Amino acid sequence: MTSRQRWGTRVGLILAMAGNAVGLGNFLRFPVQAASNGGGAFMIPYFISFLLLGIPLMWVEWTIGRYGGTRGHGSTPGMFQALWEHPVAKYLGVIGVVGPLLIVVYYTYVESWTLAFSLFALAGKFPQPPEGAGVASVLAPYKKLFADFIGAGGSTWMRPSLWAYLFFLITLGLNVWVLSRGISRGIEALAKVAMPTLFLFAVLLAIRVLTLGHPVSPAYGPWEAMNFLWKPQLEKLGDWKIWLAAAGQIFFTLSVGMGAIHTYASYLKEKDDIALSGLATAATNEFAEVVLGASIAIPAAVAFFGLTAAQEIARSGAFSLGFFSMPAALTMMPLGRLFGFLWFGLLFFAGITSSVALSQPAVAFLEDELKWTRKRSAYTVGAFIFLSAHLPIFLSGALDELDFWLGTFGIVLFALVETVIFIWIFGADRAFQEMLKGADIQIPRFFYYVLKYVTPVMLMAIMLGWFATGWLDTIRKANTVIWITRGYILLVIVLGLFMIRRAFAKKEAS
Ligand code: ALA
Repeated sequence: MTSRQRWGTRVGLILAMAGNAVGLGNFLRFPVQAASNGGGAFMIPYFISFLLLGIPLMWVEWTIGRYGGTRGHGSTPGMFQALWEHPVAKYLGVIGVVGPLLIVVYYTYVESWTLAFSLFALAGKFPQPPEGAGVASVLAPYKKLFADFIGAGGSTWMRPSLWAYLFFLITLGLNVWVLSRGISRGIEALAKVAMPTLFLFAVLLAIRVLTLGHPVSPAYGPWEAMNFLWKPQLEKLGDWKIWLAAAGQIFFTLSVGMGAIHTYASYLKEKDDIALSGLATAATNEFAEVVLGASIAIPAAVAFFGLTAAQEIARSGAFSLGFFSMPAALTMMPLGRLFGFLWFGLLFFAGITSSVALSQPAVAFLEDELKWTRKRSAYTVGAFIFLSAHLPIFLSGALDELDFWLGTFGIVLFALVETVIFIWIFGADRAFQEMLKGADIQIPRFFYYVLKYVTPVMLMAIMLGWFATGWLDTIRKANTVIWITRGYILLVIVLGLFMIRRAFAKKEAS
């Protein structure tokens, strides 16, 4: 067996895994989801999903990853084949390579906006809000700045600014550079710098926002936002849509159902602990999300615009809290430039530690299954991302469509597939034993039953829930861009299947 790369230190591994999970999802997506789904009404389904889906799947993915890695496989096609000797197993693993690779296509683009905006903030390029105007007028110049930057407005075409394209190239270049340096000198080294930095930035921002007092009106303050988020609303527990949003957020934020956790875990040794490290990863992510992520964008919006307006802003689009109301609020604060830099810098560091993680399954596939060198694999993946990114860069609606299929549907589907293979086919008892190998803490028996019955049933319920809540209508509503995007996704999946066939046929022949 070839000797595979390894993590340098345990701290480095935990930081890299936390970097994998902590991303744009924690600071951009979470506030939007929480604010637009009723704050306190969202948090109970969110924590239940964390306990019954997030934590168990985190352990499952670490275990599958370590199991596959010790058998020479760093991506899910080989891992699934190692778990289940059936010709179809390796093909099911395609989702764990193509899925994260297509997510990273738009993810890196969004990440590049944060790099650009962090420098815009520092250079004082944010507009001044008009004095004494209403919320819409205050936000208008920021909306315009953002729309001009990404070239939004057309029904089919985006006309991105040169800056947007340039920053995308720089961001992608940085990602490829890190990937080409490998696990310990690239990814681990990045995490050791980026993770402490982003936590520092986030703590400074959270303190700043929570001590804002009542900057514009005695009726608005950041603590009102905390009350909105943390006051449970039991009467809304029956709302199916809130449950779906909460479960979806848990998947996205923890990076479960993507294939990225498996790949990082494949660089573990056979007796390396999973129980404590997996839990530490999940806990660090949750700290970053519900403590820090919850204390920045929503309270800032509430402090300057009031609770009702903040919720409307959140509902108006995935980027509105982060890219319109945050810059507006930051410009109105003392030291706004500096805090603006911290906000977008935080997003950039959170983004890049996740985008390298989402790219690594494809890099590992090329390295382990096709025996390509690390550099060749990293450059090829970089070239693929570069070409594919022209879809979300130039076509209006392609980004949302990719996010819908890969970042929402694909991750739940993949989680269901891996749970069935690992728990039902490989066997719950063997799976649990494997998970406990080298464990530094005992995993309560409760999770054995959760994994065997509750997690798969919840995953199926989520899928059914989507169909029941008008999902088919969403799918039917399609224009040319949407069909092009779907066609592209299909093409990449077919290409992935073909490469899996080729790689494994070669191995069987040799
Ligand atoms: N887990 C990553 C995020 O939250 C993908 O952004």
